[in-house]
Amino acid sequence: MQTVAIIGAQWGDEGKGKITDMLAEKCDYVVRYQGGHNAGHTIWVSGKKTVLHVIPSGVLHDHCTSIIGHGVVVEPENFLKELKNVQSITTVDHKRLKVSENATVITSYHRLLDAARESQGPEKIGTTGKGIGPAYEDKAARKAVKIKDLLDKDILYKKLSNGFAEKKVLFKELYKIEVPSLEEETERLYQLGQQFKDYICDTFSILDKAISQNKKVLYEGAQGVLLDVDYGTYPYVTSSSTSSAGILTGAGNVNGKVDEILGIVKAYTTRVGEGPFPTELFDEVGSYIQKTGNEVGATTGRTRRCGWLDFPLLRYAIKCSNLTSIALTKLDILSNMETLKVCYAYEIDGKQVDCAYPGIDLFKAKPLLKSLKPFKDDFKTNEVSVELKAYIDEIEKGLGIPVGIYAFGPDRAEIKFNKTYF
Ligand code: GDP
Ligand code: IMO
Ligand code: MG
Repeated sequence: MQTVAIIGAQWGDEGKGKITDMLAEKCDYVVRYQGGHNAGHTIWVSGKKTVLHVIPSGVLHDHCTSIIGHGVVVEPENFLKELKNVQSITTVDHKRLKVSENATVITSYHRLLDAARESQGPEKIGTTGKGIGPAYEDKAARKAVKIKDLLDKDILYKKLSNGFAEKKVLFKELYKIEVPSLEEETERLYQLGQQFKDYICDTFSILDKAISQNKKVLYEGAQGVLLDVDYGTYPYVTSSSTSSAGILTGAGNVNGKVDEILGIVKAYTTRVGEGPFPTELFDEVGSYIQKTGNEVGATTGRTRRCGWLDFPLLRYAIKCSNLTSIALTKLDILSNMETLKVCYAYEIDGKQVDCAYPGIDLFKAKPLLKSLKPFKDDFKTNEVSVELKAYIDEIEKGLGIPVGIYAFGPDRAEIKFNKTYF
């Protein structure tokens, strides 16, 4: 295969970082195409943990070039902090990390607006507070600062001024918060831009050339399909296209196709922030999964809500993103439990619903659960128990696509491939 996409099939935190890192071993480019540092992608290599936010998760492989595409929103201060951290682990310079000149900049105004809305606004989304929504709003409103604008102070000032008159009224009159002046923000962003100017380039052409030379490319999605601004559980979503559709608009030339769209599925379901969650567990089973799975947000440190695997939700994600196979993660967390259930359908207003189509009200969905025999695997050998095999079979049968990978621990070695991707 030449091109593979990694797509979160639930509400994020499915283990995309780990799977991207594994597949990056055999590919030439890893490309982020949407989202920003709201993402937290965790990689464990030989007992050392690295959390990546906006830098692609292939960066720990020296042979691999990482691309931050134009669909991404980049907060320069956080980017530089992350870059320093990665540089303390391995050699990363502008030759193998490229930032699109057309990516959108997250400014202080976006971060402050996000925080003000969450703390003072009428309805809380439970955002990561990183300024993601407001940055994408400016992009759609054609008022965004692009990464290339950081390199010219006059242009930067002009771009920042664009729309500031409106924002100033919001900050001053509605939210009553102090914000940096245009001059201060211009200076701050300009100085930050100077520190990574060598990394800024036309990533479209780099990718175009790579594809035409048959290089192997991995597209790394952030968040999950159910957080997609169009397909997700709106308004409790993020502000970008997290489904595979986002690759076409946010990465550049993909030759019109991606060979394999790998959906990353956690063996149970989690969600951070507000919004409906049909299989959420409020009992001791839910807290057991939360504790054993260490389900704490990699970006905000918030406790993740936990529940059983949700087939209607996954069937919908498969349709939205055209998923062709699954990487099933965190099976070790379900091992040794006393009960094991999956949600095979919902009951809504007395009717059975098999797929979480957007028209339905997920707040009203009552999960119809099937109990399976719990498995007790220690994953020390290649053998899987009859019970674990039955769990995987149930998933493949219920979803209609194969489990190509399964993972049973955070480290690189804790993985098994049933299918070859590169
Ligand atoms: P991402 O946002 O999709 O990359 O996922 P996160 O990194 O936010 O959250 C996934 C968490 O699960 C991280 O702490 C990973 O190290 C961890 N993880 C990934 N796969 C497995 C697995 O198979 N078993 C266990 N126990 N942990 C895993
Ligand atoms: P990764 O890539 C889980 C959630 C937030 C909130 C909603 C909107 O690590 O899977 P935003 O700050 O994006 O405007 O918040 O989206 N959210 C995530 N949840 N994993 C993520 O990323 C997330 N990125 C955003 O919790 O509910
Ligand atoms: Mg995460």
